[in-house]
Formats: sequence, C-alpha cells, structure tokens
Amino acid sequence: MKHNIKRTIGLIVLAALVIAAAILGVRVAGLVELTRIEMNTTPTPVPPTRNVMQVTIDPSAPTPQPVLRSGSQGEEVRQLQERLQQLGYYTSAVDGQFGPGTRNAVIAFQSQHGLAADGIVGEGTKAVLYSDAAQPKPTAPPTQVPTAVPEIAPAWVRSDGMPLLVNRDNPMPQGYQHMELVDMSSYCPGSIVKIKYSGTQAERVAVDALISMLKAAHTQGVTVWQVSAAYRGESYQQQLFDQQVQEYIDNNGLSYANAVSATRKTVLEPGYSEHHTGLAFDITVPGVAFKGTEQAEWLAANCWDYGFIIRYTEDKQEVTGILPEPWHIRYVGVEHSIPMHRQNLCLEEYIAVYGSN
Ligand code: DAL
Ligand code: ZN
Repeated sequence: MKHNIKRTIGLIVLAALVIAAAILGVRVAGLVELTRIEMNTTPTPVPPTRNVMQVTIDPSAPTPQPVLRSGSQGEEVRQLQERLQQLGYYTSAVDGQFGPGTRNAVIAFQSQHGLAADGIVGEGTKAVLYSDAAQPKPTAPPTQVPTAVPEIAPAWVRSDGMPLLVNRDNPMPQGYQHMELVDMSSYCPGSIVKIKYSGTQAERVAVDALISMLKAAHTQGVTVWQVSAAYRGESYQQQLFDQQVQEYIDNNGLSYANAVSATRKTVLEPGYSEHHTGLAFDITVPGVAFKGTEQAEWLAANCWDYGFIIRYTEDKQEVTGILPEPWHIRYVGVEHSIPMHRQNLCLEEYIAVYGSN
C-alpha cells in the first residue's frame, strides 16, 4: 500500500515536469521569433557543404576603377554622360559612347575644378565628379570683356561667339570662306616686321592686330621680328607633314607608323591645322632659335592684350596634343584672349567651358 502511494506521487511529479517543460519550450521559441522580427533578421541558413574555392574579400582594398577616355563605351560611360548632363557640361545624347562631345564636356569639367584637363576620367576626376565639390557649368560670361562680340560675327567666330577651333579633332569647317586674306609682304611695314617668304598671306583682322602688337613691342625696345608662316593651304600642309615623317624615318630610324605618330605632335594633318584659318602666325627671329629669346618672352607676356594667344604651351600639351611651340600665336580677339589668359585656359578648354556643345 505504502509502495503504491509512493509510485502515484512519482508519476504525478513526472507529469508535472513534462507539462512545465512543454510550456517553457513554446515560450522560448516565441521569444526568439519576436527578437528576429524586431531586429529584422532572418535565420542564418546553414550553407550546403560543397567543394568551392574560398575567396577572401579585403574590405579595405580599393575597388579598381576603370579609366574612361575617348573610345570607351558602355554603362560607365552612360553614367558619366548623365552626371555631366546633370551638371550642365554635356548636352548631347546619353548613348554610352565616349566621343568628342563627351571629351569636351570632361575637359570643361576638369578645367572648372582645377584638375588636369586631359579629357580622361581617372580616379581623381571621378572623385570630384561624384562629390559635393562638383560645380555646375557656369553660364555667365567669363569676365568683363573690353569689347563685345560684334553683332554680325566674322567668319572666325562661331554662332555662340566662340573663336573657330581647328585642332586634331576638329578640321576646318567644310566650305569655310576666309574674310580677307592680305599679302603680308606688301601690307606690313618692313620696319616693324620682316616677312620671311614672299606670298605669305593672312586674314586682315589678324594682321592689323599683329602690326599693332609689334609696334608696341618696338616702343618697348623689342625690335627684331619675323613672320615665318601664316595662312597655309591643305596641299602645303600635306608637304610639311610628309617631309616631317620622312625626317623621322631617315634621321631617327623610326618605322613609318611611329614616324607618323611622332609627326602628329608637331605638325597637324592637312585640314586640321590652325594655319588654314589665316589667323595663326609663326613668329621668329632671323637666324636664332626662338625659344628663350627676348621676343619669345615679350610675346608670352603681352600677346593677350592684342587678341592673341600662345596656342601650344607646355602645360596644355595633354589637351592640345601638340608639343610646346612658343612661336605659334593665334588671333582670337581681345574679348577672348584676355579671359583665356586670366583663367589659364587654352582654346579647347575655353570653348569647352564657355561655348555650347
Ligand atoms: N605646327 C602646327 C601645330 C601646325 O601644323 O598647325
Ligand atoms: Zn604654327
């Protein structure tokens, strides 16, 4: 009897323990679920055991950034064009093709932000472009200019008021009509400037500015000046180009292909030379190398005030693609040469920043 009572009590305790354990289990499961919902987590799935290669990603390692340049294409270029469009630098189609329009927009952006204006989008340009430091393209005129662009623009000024741009990417416009080419030997006073080759021609507007400038130089004691080149036709430019290629082959032992690419840095291909405009001059001093002469220094310091720019400078080689030529000046008019000088913009940069696309 005593034994039966003990067994019954044991069974009751056991049953109570089983019921308590069941209630506790439900509560614990409920709490875990609640916590997951509050933290918005999901249970970590147990990965299936497979024979895969382990790749360790270092979160501090920089992600390699592709450099975008002329000829690049794809989604990254589309994003670039969209960003440039948002900032007002790019107005052409967002097509994922990095052509001259995109390059010009990149140059404009780089110039505005103190970056090397090479038209190539590397890490530095990207960092600024996608940061809060990216400024929209300015629309106001660059600076107070001494004279306004004439109402009826001369042939060398584009419809948006910018001077004609002729370079390795932009040939002379088809059907371009010169305004008034004058014979420099008869037009220019021999006491002011010597014209090296008879028959040399240039646009009257540029020759007038050249004479004014050189007269001023004379009054400041810089007196010996020569013009070695001005307007050139395409066939003459072709001769110069071929001659330089041949020189590289003969004197430097370059292959034809290498000779052509070396030549492109000093002589532009026919149709792409600024000399076709009649607005460019090669200024020299008879019998001496021009670089480093007092004339070269005077020109670099003063030509801006007479509407000229030194077209191919050392610091803009990446943009122009031409090796420095301290002798090659280009007439753009004072309304452009002065702001270009003040803002240290070459013609490509100036047009990219202030011209319309
Ligand atoms: N020497 C300059 C770049 C020209 O050929 O036009
Ligand atoms: Zn020249």
